[in-house]
Order: sequence, then C-alpha cells, then structure tokens
Amino acid sequence: MLFVDQEIIMQNDVNIQRRKLLKLAGVSAAALATFPGLINAKTMRVGNHASLDFTPDVEIRLTGEVSYVPIFDGPQTRVWKVKGKVLKGNKSVVTNEGSYLAPTIRLHKGQKVRIYLKNELPSATILHWHGLHVPAKMDGNPMYAIGNGETFVYEFEILNRAGTYWYHAHTHSLTAKHVYSGLAGFFIVSDDEEQALNLPRGEFDVPLVIQDRNFDQQNQLKYDGGMMMKMHGFLGEQILVNGTPEFELPVATRAYRLRLLNGSNSRIYKLAWDDGTPIQVIGTDGGLLEQAETLPYLTLAPAERREIWVDFSDKKIGTEITLRSLEFSSGGMGMMGGMGGGMRGGRRGGMMGGRRSHSGEDFTVLKVRVSKKVSGNDILPKRLSKIKALTLADAANPQSARRITLSMRHMSALLNGRSYKMNDIREDEIVPVNTVQLMEFDNGFHGMGGGMMGMPHPMHLHGEQFQVVKREVRNKSGRGYASVSAGFLDKGWKDTVLVMPGEKVTLLKPFNDFTGIFMYHCHNLEHEDMGMMRDLLVK
Ligand code: C2O
Ligand code: CU
Ligand code: CU
Repeated sequence: MLFVDQEIIMQNDVNIQRRKLLKLAGVSAAALATFPGLINAKTMRVGNHASLDFTPDVEIRLTGEVSYVPIFDGPQTRVWKVKGKVLKGNKSVVTNEGSYLAPTIRLHKGQKVRIYLKNELPSATILHWHGLHVPAKMDGNPMYAIGNGETFVYEFEILNRAGTYWYHAHTHSLTAKHVYSGLAGFFIVSDDEEQALNLPRGEFDVPLVIQDRNFDQQNQLKYDGGMMMKMHGFLGEQILVNGTPEFELPVATRAYRLRLLNGSNSRIYKLAWDDGTPIQVIGTDGGLLEQAETLPYLTLAPAERREIWVDFSDKKIGTEITLRSLEFSSGGMGMMGGMGGGMRGGRRGGMMGGRRSHSGEDFTVLKVRVSKKVSGNDILPKRLSKIKALTLADAANPQSARRITLSMRHMSALLNGRSYKMNDIREDEIVPVNTVQLMEFDNGFHGMGGGMMGMPHPMHLHGEQFQVVKREVRNKSGRGYASVSAGFLDKGWKDTVLVMPGEKVTLLKPFNDFTGIFMYHCHNLEHEDMGMMRDLLVK
C-alpha cells in the first residue's frame, strides 16, 4: 500500500536525521559549548529507561498500534490507535475510548507520572503533552521520535493548574498525518482550587473533541497531500465529535461543563447554539477563567480549548439544541473560501478538502437532546479562580518584543523567514531561563506576509501557558476579521492563539524552571509540517 511505503520512507528519514544529530554531537565541541541543553539531551539517551530517582504516583503504559474501529455502518475503519493501561495508581486515570481517539488521561496537580510509550505503529513517532509545563526532554520533541518496537519513557510532575489539555503525535513532517490517523487524546488536570468549586462532575463534565475527516466508500480515512491542500490546511467533509459522526449528547435538566477541543488539523470553527443562547465560557487553554464570559459565538482554532457552562434545567424533555459552526470568511487565498466556506455537515465524499467558494453553508457540529429529568443543579460560581495578571513590568524585554513574523511564500510556511530544521538554533532563538518574554506574532500587520496570501495561523508555544496582552489589526473591516473577532477570548492562560491575516498579537510568555528546546509553531498541522515551526533554546 502506498500509504505504508511512504511511512517507511519517512521513518528512515527521521532515523537518518537522528544519526546525523548524534554524529554532530560527537564531533562539534563548539556546538556543545554553545548549546549544552541540546547536546546533552542526545548523549544522555533520553527516555530510554525509567530513572531510579523518580518515584511516580501513577504509571501508565500507552501503546500505539494499528487498529480497526467502527465509525460508520459497514467496514470498520483502519486507524492508529493508542491503547492505555494503568500500571500503578488509580485505574480511573486512564479511560480508553471506543473511537479512534487516544485514551483520556486524568491527573491531579502535583502528581508524578511515568508514561511508557510503546510504538507498534508502522512509522517512527512521538507524543507531545500539549499545554503541559514539562521538562524539555519530556516534551515530545520530534528528535525523540521512536521507531517501531521501541519504547520512550516519560517522567514528569503535573505542574499545571486544572484544565483541559491534550496530547498528540509530534513527528517531524508527519504530525498532520499522525494526528489525522488517530494519535490524539485528552489530558485533563484537576487541582484543589477547582475541586473546591461546585462545578458539574462525572457524567455532567463532558470532554468533546471536534475533528473533520474524509472517508472513502469503504469507510477508510482519506488524506490526499497535494500542495494546494497543504497551503490551506486539510479540510474534511465529515465532522466527528469524540470520533463519532452525527454526534448526539443526551443530557439531563441541569447544568453541564462541556470541554471543547478543536482537534482538527486546520479547520477553524465558529460555534454557536442554534436557539440563540449565548455561549458562557468558564475556561480556556490553561484552565478556568476568573469569571465566566458571555460571547455570541466561539471562534475555536486548531488546538484551542474552551470550557463552557450550559444549563438545560429550564428545558423540556425532548428539546433538541444544535451546536453549529456558522459561516465566516477567513480571508486569504483569493476566492478559495478559506476555512469557513465549503462544508456540508455530515456528508461524506463529495468535494475533496471541502474547499468551495464563499457560498459555504454553516453546518451542524453536534446535537444535544434533553432526555432525563433530574432535580438539583449546580450554580455557576461568580468567582471561578484567581489569575495573576502578567504585566510589562514582569517582562525581561519590555521595550523590545521578540517579533515573529508569519508568512507563506514560494510554497512554504515560514516564521521570521525561516523554515523548521532540527538542531538549527539561531541567536534570536535563545531565551534566558526564568524570564517572562514579551513576544509578538505578526501576520502581515507591518506589511509583508499578509495581503492576498494572508492566512489565519493558530500559533502555539510549548512549555508554560502565556497571557495575551493585545491584538492589533491593520484593517478591522478587512476580509475575515470582523466575521470571527466577536468569538475571540484572550483572557486567562493560553497556549494557542489565532492570528488572523493583518493581525498582530502581543503576549507575555514565561519560560520558567526548564532549560532545553521548546518548539513553537502554527497549529494548522499542514502548515507545521510544511516548516512553520521553530525551536527556542531556553538556557
Ligand atoms: Cu499541540 Cu507542538 O503541539
Ligand atoms: Cu504543544
Ligand atoms: Cu498556519
């Protein structure tokens, strides 16, 4: 099969790169002096075995393997499935999902976890804990990709506050394909502050991951990697929620905490309830907000999370409410429709990539059906959390933000005009540890990069969560911006922020505790794989 052959070629590619890297580590003493974090990481054979001085509270084994899951009637779908098993600790830490999704992992702040990742897939791969503040060696950098039959051992303490995080494959130039094949799941953290609140729990606390896929007539995943598709990012015709098409959530007459994750490769959603109920947001990428925020709709870019509060207590049994993605224009790429247009809800086949003109209808994401009467309810707390606001005074570089320009040129996607390369740290990519850095993502705000080729880029930084300071846009009424901007929510802690064409987003990003390499990249996974990713060396 062509698919498999390509994987093996790519795997060799990764191995060759690793060998080159090792060679480099052996010869270049100068490099060693300049980037000790980088070189040590390789020579220490990170992740090969459990360490004696780390006593985990919880031990998990995750195995990536080819599997067949029922998604539609008829033939089962071949996917890349992660299966989980708790080796030590409470069994409820890992919930294996029925779909292609990787297991949901639930841990508490302060817990120490050891995770054995066993690769039984026909490709080298590695998992990254998106949004978690972990040591560089545990972060799932592509240089740590393991081949078929190999095991990577992760060991880290949960330092994050309560929140909806996730994990996914991060293989060099293959992230999009690997995530598409199934290598992604929820990683939910709780803490004492959150537990002290009366938020909906158990069956009333529902993680929901939204993804889009294309399937062929035999129910098999299709991913055609043409250059045009890569430039836009993949858009699938079939929406899946928690790996299920035409997803319906039966609910009781009470309040719910819904944890929304956009786990799509590149599709941006503009989410709204079809009965006109505004959206009440209680949390974002890095956990709870200080207080709930009400928005007419949510703009949710790839990798972003929003936790929302919905109260069905005044609804009659049988009421059906739809969460839709509304039409919007994302700008860029002429009349190709960008990411908003061209989607037929829940229909397979048809136009590849779902790229059609701006006529694009809105589509159904999921349905909620009120099906059970219960007494008792939770009341939305006025105060959810206390967040320390970072200010310019906290920044090590308050006068000179680190500017990162986003551009797409000559069929490549670039950060500061550079494409991703392993082991290619430049002077301006070195960050002093234990500092807060003022940074800005410039998507054509200062001319260049925007214009006709301007595209939305959901920018993600590894390591600690950041705070958005401000958004500036060149032209508020310009293409795309006004159709999504009321759905932005920049409060609280974030790890991914959507930067629209013509926009500049400024943020404050802490780089505490850990030295070594932390990536940042566009979370449009096709863009990432095209090279829209760079390393930062924290030292
Ligand atoms: Cu969600 Cu570098 O990843
Ligand atoms: Cu990440
Ligand atoms: Cu991008």
